[in-house]
Amino acid sequence: MTGSHLLGSGSALPSRVVTNAELAAQIDTSDEWIVERTGIRQRYIASDGETTASLAIAASRKALDDAGIAASDIDLIVLATATPDNTFPATATKVQNALGCNGCVAFDVAAVCSGFLYALTTADSLLKTGTGTRALVIGAETFSRILDWEDRTTCVLFGDGAGAVVLEAPREDDRVGADAPGVLASRLHADGANHDLLYVDGGPSTTQTVGHLRMKGREVFRHAVVNLSNVLNEVIEDAGISASDIDWVVPHQANARILDATAKKLGIAPEKVIVTVDQHANTSAASVPLAYDVARRDGRIKSGDLVMFEAMGGGFTWGASLVRI
Ligand code: ACO
Repeated sequence: MTGSHLLGSGSALPSRVVTNAELAAQIDTSDEWIVERTGIRQRYIASDGETTASLAIAASRKALDDAGIAASDIDLIVLATATPDNTFPATATKVQNALGCNGCVAFDVAAVCSGFLYALTTADSLLKTGTGTRALVIGAETFSRILDWEDRTTCVLFGDGAGAVVLEAPREDDRVGADAPGVLASRLHADGANHDLLYVDGGPSTTQTVGHLRMKGREVFRHAVVNLSNVLNEVIEDAGISASDIDWVVPHQANARILDATAKKLGIAPEKVIVTVDQHANTSAASVPLAYDVARRDGRIKSGDLVMFEAMGGGFTWGASLVRI
């Protein structure tokens, strides 16, 4: 069966930029350490009044505009986030109400940094089985609200933002095979055994608090390179292509060194990897659609290109999707 088509994209960032130098004025860190270990130079941090939903709404409006469709054409909203506006209802329902497509299916998925891959794969499957014709798939986060701003090992790594894409169900006359447009192959994985390497130490059913992000970065790094290389190879095999056929890799933007190490393991040239971690830092579920939107709008990713999305995050969860734009 052919996959859903990617019609358009949009993204949104908070208005406030925070540079490494600004962080170094407040905690024991330096621009040099952050750039050398992570590639991050700045991040965007939500101000009062900017929330996961408000960023998601702004990104969705731009994606609808880019796709040339009205909000009333949307049948399904899948929003990936680990930082919802409220414990419930789903942030997707706030987006739905703001866009005015009330009545369509709307829910959140929680897969942390892999959330966009989980949301994309879920939406693609639902469209293929007739739940609707068009979906908004969103990754949106305000990780600044769950950071321990006194923990220099984590707070320098993350930022806030949102990205969205419009997906359309496959058409009967779509070509088949690796030249077909749309989602060609996807794989998702999770392994709960590594919970303690990356988690939030609070929640409604445990502490009745929101909690703070905790991470053993060195171990996460090691797992990330292995898991991402494996899942990328699975998707390449499923789609019947070779790594050299890929025009662009749009990875989760956690750390420039993970991006380099993963590309190297697969034999993909570094110039084919879209990098925004320097500007946005790690925006969790938002990072893949944000990076995709940046590269589409600056003209690098074009119609007909073969694009690999990939991510790994807390859970652990990880996944990849190959899409012909
Ligand atoms: N500024 C200055 N020094 C620091 C800072 C900081 N911000 N943070 C840590 N250090 C120090 C440490 O204290 C340590 O000092 P010591 O040697 O005196 O003990 C030293 O720097 C080295 O610390 P490490 O943690 O070993 O540094 P490492 O090279 O592993 O880099 C990093 C840390 C950047 C976190 C890296 O491990 C990493 O990127 N990991 C992956 C994170 C990731 O990919 N997350 C993705 C998923 S995120 C999600 O799902 C929500």
